[in-house]
Amino acid sequence: MTSAQTQTITVGVTGASGAIFAQKTLALLEDDSRVTRVHLVVTETGQRLLAEELEITSGDLRQLPSRILGRASKKTETISNKDVGASIASGSYDVDAMIVVPCTMGALAAIANGTSDDLVARSADVMLKEGRKLILCVRDTPFNRIHLENMLRAQQAGAVIMPVVPAFYHKPKTIDDVVTQYVCRVLAHAGLPQEKMYRWTGSAPAMKAES
Ligand SMILES: Cc1cc2nc3c(=O)[nH]c(=O)nc-3n(C[C@H](O)[C@H](O)[C@H](O)COP(=O)(O)O)c2cc1C
Repeated sequence: MTSAQTQTITVGVTGASGAIFAQKTLALLEDDSRVTRVHLVVTETGQRLLAEELEITSGDLRQLPSRILGRASKKTETISNKDVGASIASGSYDVDAMIVVPCTMGALAAIANGTSDDLVARSADVMLKEGRKLILCVRDTPFNRIHLENMLRAQQAGAVIMPVVPAFYHKPKTIDDVVTQYVCRVLAHAGLPQEKMYRWTGSAPAMKAES
């Protein structure tokens, strides 16, 4: 951890469906007083998905965080995915956790096989080699054998595989309820438990049929 109180987080956004999950992740990190810095890396297809699904166009990458958040960003800074010499490409730079949300099968393959050929893959590789938290919010359906083997490979190297699979036990009423609960679970795994996360406390015992 950066210090006892503060955290630096990297968020990778790749070109899988579910840009809204990236948007919610960045919003909750922005509002979290334990987080001082967020490094945002968006792949080329990730930018395309932000445009397709949320109508957020990239333009100047420096403006991207505020476009995604819909308000000024105080702590999120975009780094080009081509900049493999950025701070987060080195293990000597302290990052507490990295979340790839959503994570394509392509990015998963690059991470599982250590290709490090762009900044998302390289910074994820660094997280694994340094024994730090890496969470992959993989998204596709159905999975083929290559996807499943890559998930196992990445998990065995230390990544947490958290497929973008929503829960319904908290009785969500809106899409935002569904997205928030999933992202809260991700952030809890990143060491940032959220107060708004619904916690299951067990269901009432099933009624016994009267004989
Ligand atoms: C509209 C759209 C939706 C896509 N959805 C997914 C998806 O859900 N999962 C996935 O693995 N790839 C998906 N893809 C394909 C990836 O974007 C593609 O494989 C790309 O090369 C991944 O690059 P990246 O990992 O650098 O972002 C989608 C592409 C488009 C254009």
